[in-house]
Amino acid sequence: MALGADIARRCRGDFPSLARREDGRTLAFLDGPAGTQVPARVIEAISGYYRTQNANTHGQFATSRETDAMIAAARAAVAALLGAPSGREISFGQNMTTLCYALGHAIARELREGDEVVITELDHEGNRGPWLMLRERGVVVREVRLRPDGRLDYEDMAARIGARTRVVAMGLSSNALGTVNDAAVARRLSRAVGAWLVLDAVHYAPHFAIDVAALDPDFLLCSAYKFYGPHVGILYARPGLLERLEPDRLRTQDQTAPDRFETGTLNHAALAGVKAAVEYIAGWGEGETLRARILSALAAIGAHEHALAVRYDREVRRLPGVTRWGPPLDEGPRAPMVSITIDGVRAEDAARRLGEAGLLVWDGHFFAARPVEVLGLIERGGLLRTGFSMYNTDEEVDRLLASLAEIARRR
Ligand SMILES: Cc1ncc(COP(=O)(O)O)c(C=O)c1O
Repeated sequence: MALGADIARRCRGDFPSLARREDGRTLAFLDGPAGTQVPARVIEAISGYYRTQNANTHGQFATSRETDAMIAAARAAVAALLGAPSGREISFGQNMTTLCYALGHAIARELREGDEVVITELDHEGNRGPWLMLRERGVVVREVRLRPDGRLDYEDMAARIGARTRVVAMGLSSNALGTVNDAAVARRLSRAVGAWLVLDAVHYAPHFAIDVAALDPDFLLCSAYKFYGPHVGILYARPGLLERLEPDRLRTQDQTAPDRFETGTLNHAALAGVKAAVEYIAGWGEGETLRARILSALAAIGAHEHALAVRYDREVRRLPGVTRWGPPLDEGPRAPMVSITIDGVRAEDAARRLGEAGLLVWDGHFFAARPVEVLGLIERGGLLRTGFSMYNTDEEVDRLLASLAEIARRR
């Protein structure tokens, strides 16, 4: 199946929300980095669970057994998405941030005063706050410098990782600047000192194939609502690691991985949606196995999104007063999103005017406050971020560029 730019035309009918109109206009959902739209198949999996299977786990009756099987299948689907050996390495939670805090609590029990954790100036607060919290326990937190070009300074990373480093926490891709980070360098440096590597894959997972076998993180986190699924957080842990940690948990719950990391009752219906979202992505690919179909689908989806981002980036930078922040789109891997500032126009005002024209884009710092701060853009109101997802089209890019041209002209 040769998809190319055709993917958007073919998939749009799958997403009911894309048909929504306001003031006679179709809405252009260019806000994917904050959460993608959801295909009917995922919505039906969620409502179908409530219609036919709604139960708690580990009971002696059909709906409970079916719930157990559905959760196991959701873990297996996510394992296929991440290249993990099995669903045993996949825990679920409310969202990435909550899971990362839980991981921080568990890891805190392993650390002593004076131990060090390395975070980055580029990361979303979700992968900084849970580690900065450890300062309360006398842990020293070091920050890898962000360069003005939107890339991490790997020499600085090498300098900050040392004998007392116990954790290195880094994103795979920045949701503010689109940078794709070099996980191999972080792995080599963290491995050399015996530190755990925690990767935030939230902004990476919708656009690129993930292979935990190759990346070799100790922990990797992502969120299904960024890849056409419901609001569910996902934690991958290297086999055996969860058993070694002491996460917050009840004595009454299952003490083995992956349940060991999951407190209380999960959002079962949403997990049915997570499984359906992975299968939806895979449905655009080819191959014998679910994993092969996911890889082939993500290659096609990523190519389509990248082409939209490249065109938008090229044309938006021609508008007067526009600056693009973050690395260029043609130098190595780059997430399909573009953050700009417009001289004399605050991002919030531009986003509001675009919103009135049915163009949904984000403004501000998107919880990636640190890089926006470091680049000196907080006072200016932050960035105007456009993200491209599988269902976005060239016509939407045209509409966006036309409205931005008007905003730039009237400054
Ligand atoms: C790169 C990145 N990391 C972490 C998060 C936090 O994810 P969650 O909303 O699941 O807590 C986000 C959310 O936007 C993100 O973009």
